[in-house]
Order: sequence, then C-alpha cells, then structure tokens
Amino acid sequence: MTGGLVILTDQHIESYQRDGFVLVENVVPAEDIGRLRAEAERLFALDHPGRVFEKDGKTVRGVHGCHTTGELFPRLIRLPSLLASAEQLLASKVYVHQCKINAKRALSGDTWPWHQDYIFWEQQDGLREPRVVNVALFLDEADEFNGPLLFVPGSHLQGVIRTERNGSSPDGQAPDWASSLSADLDYALGPEDVARAVGDRGIRSATGPAGSLLFFDSRIVHASGPNMSPVDRTLFLATYNSVENELADVPAPRPEFLAARDNQPLEALHEAL
Ligand code: SIN
Ligand code: MN
Repeated sequence: MTGGLVILTDQHIESYQRDGFVLVENVVPAEDIGRLRAEAERLFALDHPGRVFEKDGKTVRGVHGCHTTGELFPRLIRLPSLLASAEQLLASKVYVHQCKINAKRALSGDTWPWHQDYIFWEQQDGLREPRVVNVALFLDEADEFNGPLLFVPGSHLQGVIRTERNGSSPDGQAPDWASSLSADLDYALGPEDVARAVGDRGIRSATGPAGSLLFFDSRIVHASGPNMSPVDRTLFLATYNSVENELADVPAPRPEFLAARDNQPLEALHEAL
C-alpha cells in the first residue's frame, strides 16, 4: 500500500487555496496507522533533545525531528499521498523543513495559542518565502473534545501579521528555541490580532478519523484547545519546503531537528510503508 499516488482533486486544491486548509479523510489505512501510533509511543519514551513536555514537566507534548529517527517516520514523509501532494501544492520538488508528532494527551494535552507558522520559520530559520505546506496525518481521531486544530478560513490571504516575539523559555533555563514549542508560544497573536483575523470569517475545526490527511498553509491563523477528552489526539505533522526556497543564513541556526538545512529533494516511496 503506497497510500495512493494522487489524492488531491482540483476541488481539494481550490479549497486549499481559498480557505488555506483542506482535509482528506481516510487516506492512510488502519493497519499502517496502528504501526505509526506504536512507533510514536516508542519515540515519546526516548530521551532526545527534540522531546518536549507540557508545563507539568512529565506529560509528553511532542517529539521533533521524527523524520530522521527510526525507520517508519522517515518512510512516511516519502509516502506519495503526502509527498506527491506537497509537490503538487508547491509545484516543485520538496524536502522536509520540520517534522513533529504532537501528542495532545488525553485529559492533559495543553493548548497551542493562535498563531501563524511562517513568522517562526522566517525569523528563526531564514525561510525566504511561504513556499511551504504543512501536511498533518491524524494518528488518532480528532473530534471536538480532544483539542482539534482550529482555523480561521481564508486568513492566509491576509499575509503575515507582524507580532512581537514573546521570547520566554519555559523554565528560564531551556535553550532559546524551546519557547517555539511550549504552550507559551513565541509569536502568539494578541487578542486584537485574533479578533481582526477572525472578523466575519469565523472559525472552523479540523475533525476527522485517524488516517485523515490535513493540508494547511503556513500563513493561516490557527490554534488548538486543551484535550478535555479521555482519548489522545496524536498528530503527525511534516512541513515540506520547496527545494527552490533554500534557507538564508541566520545568526543562531536552530538544531537540525527543528530546521533542516539539507534540502536534497525527497524521492517517493514505491513500496509499502
Ligand atoms: C496542534 O498540534 O494542535 C498545533 C500544531 C501547530 O500549530 O502546528
Ligand atoms: Mn502551527
């Protein structure tokens, strides 16, 4: 099973361009999701600098850099349903700039405040253009109770909202980059920016079964609430960048597991995951 070669129809692409996101349900089969879910648990238990905890210091919030750890996730980023779709949306060969698994644990997974992604990568990594696409794979069902992603449809068309960096590291001792990953997010949008962005566009949640793929623009205003459900909401997220959009030099490059500088084009996986 290669996950299907072309999954995005013209209608999907139209929705993506208009709304800044599109969800395609049931792309990756349950058997593969089971293996990916088990591998995610293995990575959550591994001591690695890319592993981040919630404010309680013990609940895993996420793992960064999973596209270069173990065997399964490095293969997943090459699955045609993800890779060929990213190439289609960016009209280019691509590589993975950043990759993570967000755990959003049952009854404890914390919020992601309202933000846009592009400003992080522009300011911290030297990303020149928003010629990137986020591809999220639901490793659990996302429903209205377990902290689904929330989007302001069409907000990507308003461009980047220039907000001040919060700059707080979670415990005052963590490295500078850690505050991009915690619930006290760098470049979180203030209440007025959020109100202005929402305007009359409203807010939509991205809910769907495990195995669904969600594509979203790096400039869309998005967030997620706490997980109030007894069920985890595990989300795999790969950010594909066009190979033509090479990172500029920055004074303090973040570790490779947060901002890849190897922009060799990915080749599609032609066998089973
Ligand atoms: C989430 O996992 O809910 C948020 C992910 C993101 O903002 O990139
Ligand atoms: Mn984000």
